[in-house]
This record gives sequence, structure tokens and C-alpha cells, in this order.
Amino acid sequence: MAAERTEAFRPMEWTGAAIRVIDQTALPGRLLYVDLANVDQVVDAIVRLAVRGAPQLGAVGALGVVVAMDEGAREGWSSARRDAAIDSIRAARPTAVNLAWAVDRVRLLIPEGRATVLAAALQLGADDEAANRAIGRRGADWISARLTGRVRVLTHCNTGALATNAWGTALGIIRELHARGALEVVFADETRPLLQGARLTAWELEQYGIPYFVQPDGAAASTILRRLVDVAIIGADRITANGDTANKIGSLGVALACKDAGIPLIVAAPESTVDVATATGDDIRIEMRGDAEVLEWGGIRVAPAGARAHNPAFDVTPARLISAIVTERRVIEPSLGHTPACSAPGGALPTPRGTGG
Ligand code: MRU
Repeated sequence: MAAERTEAFRPMEWTGAAIRVIDQTALPGRLLYVDLANVDQVVDAIVRLAVRGAPQLGAVGALGVVVAMDEGAREGWSSARRDAAIDSIRAARPTAVNLAWAVDRVRLLIPEGRATVLAAALQLGADDEAANRAIGRRGADWISARLTGRVRVLTHCNTGALATNAWGTALGIIRELHARGALEVVFADETRPLLQGARLTAWELEQYGIPYFVQPDGAAASTILRRLVDVAIIGADRITANGDTANKIGSLGVALACKDAGIPLIVAAPESTVDVATATGDDIRIEMRGDAEVLEWGGIRVAPAGARAHNPAFDVTPARLISAIVTERRVIEPSLGHTPACSAPGGALPTPRGTGG
């Protein structure tokens, strides 16, 4: 049963014929809903980050299988053509394991018919919302057991309702702390180059009435070492068997600074982000994105004509830098020797699966 919604917007819903999503590229200027009614539209929305964030990619990918089935029926596709279309959704972004995981999970049900696939895809989204609530409670409990008073939190990228189905993961913990009166302020990294922090996290924090600063990514290390924050909380796109985690580029710098300052770094993610089939962070495929995201600003070239960009969308934080990985089922403390693959305090082991890259 879904909890009562606390957002005035709907990150994603099924209209009966299309996936209705917020085009996140238009925020914060416009709250623009778009319908994804065919496979090309689904892939395009994923690639240009109109929809984004690991759990939301999973939820959209799962419903994308229904879109592919419907389009195939309309256009008279062979099953091979439909499968290739589903593969294109699965491969639209490689780093967040949730996308491939969700697509694989629901496509298995195709022989059982559209209604079964649709029900499974919708359930996946509902499960994600419940998971986020549990992550919020667990994470806030973990922090409250270790830090007294109202905490100051640094976060990176956007991990809120926009990035999930509702509530959020890292931002879900922040929201839970706020609800408990245990939060003082959030330092939101702007998150270059696409500004998920300045545009999206700030927009969400406004909605929830949570006090915040937006800071340049380059300020994060100094903010941490100057003790302006008590804890950093980030999300994840993939958590490997040994506890290494991929997240938005810049997360590693935050982690290193936290280690040096001796403040906790929490990684918050649902179990669907845990990929025990991938051994370590070295095995994660990091998405490389286009030069224009770095060399242009607002569509205007700012770098010299001859400049080339290095634009990895994610980096990998080694498990040794992570104080706690918080999922809906457990808290894994890598510094105590726990790993997602071999230690499960408070919960059962995830089922190993071959998700591929
Ligand atoms: O490129 P993005 O915006 O999809 O990257 C998103 C992140 O890195 C998030 O931190 C991660 O997916 C977790 S979202 C709950």
C-alpha cells in the first residue's frame, strides 16, 4: 500500500497508454510533463536526462517494456524487433544497474501477457516508494545514534522524489531528519556539468521547506574540512559485491574529504541498486557523456574551439571510504568489514543476479 504522497508533483505515472514524466531538463523554470508513448521517446528521455536517477530509470525502464509491447502490437513488429527495442531501452544508460535490472525483471513476464507485465512494472515503482521510506527511517536512526543535535548535511546530485518514484533515497534521509526536527541545513553541491544539485535538489528542498545552500562542487572539500557539515549523504547508481559504489561524478571527492575530516559518509540506495554479480568498482562501466555538456554553458561555447572534453558521468567511491550503506533492509558498515555480498545485519542477503553492464 503506497504511503500518502508528500510531493505536490508526480515524478512518474502510467496514463494507460504512455509513461507521463516530468521533463527534468526544464526544471526549475518549468514543471513540464511529457508523455512517453513509444520506444524512441523512452530512450530519448533517458539519454537526455529528462528522466534520471537510478531508481527512476528502473521504474521507467520497466514501464518501457509495456510501451514496447504496445508499440509492437500497433506496428505489427516481430518478437525479435520488439526484443531489440527493449534492449535499446535497457542499454540507454549503462551505469545505473536499476535500469537493466528492472527491464530484465519484467521482460521475463512477456509470455504471460501485457496485464501481467504492466502489473509487475507498476509494482516495482510502488515497491521503490516503500523502500525509500524505510531507507529514510534507517538512515535517520543511524545518524541520530551517532550525532547529537540538529545535523548539517552535505549532499551531491539529486536523489529525491525526482530521481525515484517518491520520497527519495539520500534526500529521503534528509527529509526524515527534517521531519524529526533533527536537521539544521543542507549544503547541496551544484553538481556539474548538468546541475542536478542546483536545479533539482534545490527545487525539491524549496518544496519541502528545508533550509539549504547551493555550493559549487569545488567548495565541497573545504566545507567538509572546515567542519561546516556533520555528515555527507549521497545516493548510488550501482553498489558492487565488495561495497564499492558508483555515483554522480564528484562523489569520490566528497568521500575523500569526509575520510580526511573524520565525518561519516552515508550511501543510501534501495536493494535494487546492489549488484553482487559485479565484484568491485573496477568492473563498473562508467558512462561517458558528450563534450558539449562541459565545453558549453547554456548552449554557448565557452571553451576554445580546439578544446576536447573529458566527461565521465559517474565515479566510484571505494568501500573503505564509506561509513554506512543504507538500504531498505539493512545497514552495511564497510569500515567494520561488512560487504553487501557477505554481511547482512538486519536483513537477508540479496539474490545474486547476472545483470551485466
Ligand atoms: O546522471 P544522473 O542524474 O542520472 O545521476 C544520478 C545520480 O548519480 C544519483 O545520485 C543516483 O542515481 C541515485 S538517485 C536516488
